[in-house]
Amino acid sequence: VLTEYPSFIGALAAFTSFGARLRGVALDEEGIEIQRLAEVLDGLPAAPKFLYINPYFHNPAGIIYSQERKQRLRELAEERDLMILEDDPYGELYFDQADRPLTLPIKASTGSEATVCYVGSFAKILGPGMRLGWLLAPPAIAEKCELAKQSTDACSSTFTQVLAHAFLAGGHLPGYLTMLRTTYRRRAGTMLAALKEHMPPQVTWTTPRGGFYVWVSMPETLDASRVFEASIARGAAFVIGSAFDPEGRRNNCFRLAFSHTPEEKIARGVEIIGDAVTAELHNV
Ligand SMILES: Cc1ncc(COP(=O)(O)O)c(C=O)c1O
Repeated sequence: VLTEYPSFIGALAAFTSFGARLRGVALDEEGIEIQRLAEVLDGLPAAPKFLYINPYFHNPAGIIYSQERKQRLRELAEERDLMILEDDPYGELYFDQADRPLTLPIKASTGSEATVCYVGSFAKILGPGMRLGWLLAPPAIAEKCELAKQSTDACSSTFTQVLAHAFLAGGHLPGYLTMLRTTYRRRAGTMLAALKEHMPPQVTWTTPRGGFYVWVSMPETLDASRVFEASIARGAAFVIGSAFDPEGRRNNCFRLAFSHTPEEKIARGVEIIGDAVTAELHNV
């Protein structure tokens, strides 16, 4: 299975538990690097089962794919008969209405002939505990997914399905999304301002246009686990980079989330983490 680096490899746990091996292909600010993807495909001993991507407000990188990158991915997928699993739990959480067209799924925005399985979720727009999502896939794949789902939990909770239906049918989702977008945009702004204030100049980070996350890159000699230990001792937590490396190696990056935490705490947390990074830079 191919995926981006960094990647939310937790979404692939079901496949790795059956022995699937993961291979990461680097991302930049516009999406997966197409040239790298072609090279990796050329070097594989057998065709991969599929490519897993998270194009809209990526977890953990925070980026959104450009239309051009999606188009080039579509062309490569068609050329190489590469199946894509397009995971989209954050697409509704854009900060600027002008970015909305970029959140159109690959099939809708490029008219692709490639096989694309599109996955959505209520986890980030209503409640993760509801355990409800949806899948758009060719019938043969959808049937297999149904079998796998039935053998996992028999059926999604009818109670949470009734709640989600009432929320949607009552017309509550658009207003709720507007509130989420406003809140997350503000929190992201606070986090970016705090990073600018507290991070040493050797550190870089992505500028999210939606979603939950900022991906921070330190010089390659630094270890995010050590920064984590120093930060958590003073009350600030984040997720270390190796948790997002399909090959589990690189650990000079880390993921910050601005979604859950009020602004004052974000500013304080980033200050604590900035101190820890600065101290670590002086140590190595
Ligand atoms: C990219 C991505 N996919 C899937 C999920 C999980 O979604 P669900 O709770 O619907 O299984 C998450 C949650 O963190 C995520 O970030």
